[in-house]
Amino acid sequence: MRREEVSKDRKISIRPMTLADLDEVMPIEEASYTAPWKRSMFEADLHGNPFARFFVARDPDQGTVVGYVCFWKVFAELHLMNLSVHPDRRRLGIGGELVRWTLSWAKENAVSLVTLEVRASNEAAKRLYEKLGFKLVAVRHNYYRDPREDALIMNWSEG
Ligand SMILES: CC(C)(COP(=O)(O)OP(=O)(O)OC[C@H]1O[C@@H](n2cnc3c(N)ncnc32)[C@H](O)[C@@H]1OP(=O)(O)O)[C@@H](O)C(=O)NCCC(=O)NCCS
Repeated sequence: MRREEVSKDRKISIRPMTLADLDEVMPIEEASYTAPWKRSMFEADLHGNPFARFFVARDPDQGTVVGYVCFWKVFAELHLMNLSVHPDRRRLGIGGELVRWTLSWAKENAVSLVTLEVRASNEAAKRLYEKLGFKLVAVRHNYYRDPREDALIMNWSEG
């Protein structure tokens, strides 16, 4: 099977993230952000945060982690905190599949609003979110550091 078919055919497997996944998650995290989450941040949310829902996507053939999505469900709102795809596996549909899966999860779990922040310069993520129905609702000026940059607030709601 060609690599492209794995995600285009919706054949990644998505499972709850565990501490055992972090050895594979951390290199993806560090390759994806100028200010990546530290391992201790993942550990704290996985163990101590009742709102946190973290999931990994695996290649079904190799079993390796190819991406992950992390969100908090806070009553009827879902806050999308982290979406990352392995640099070697981008542009194959995996990010889109993870977001679509998250929106399905939201519908099944009484979520009326999905919200996220994205760096103003992050064209890949902005296009992905727009394509899946997120709307720009606000700008937080100079929200990010390393480098300093505006955050765009994007929301999705059903209907
Ligand atoms: C953003 C990210 C998760 C996208 O994952 P991905 O698996 O490559 O995305 P997909 O292949 O599902 O792309 C879906 C659509 O998003 C848009 N897109 C994705 N990457 C893009 C890029 N580099 N440039 C322009 N548009 C892009 C396209 O519209 C694409 O559809 P197409 O391939 O049919 O044109 C990935 O680039 C990543 O991990 N980036 C680093 C971490 C990050 O910035 N996360 C978002 C934080 S808010």
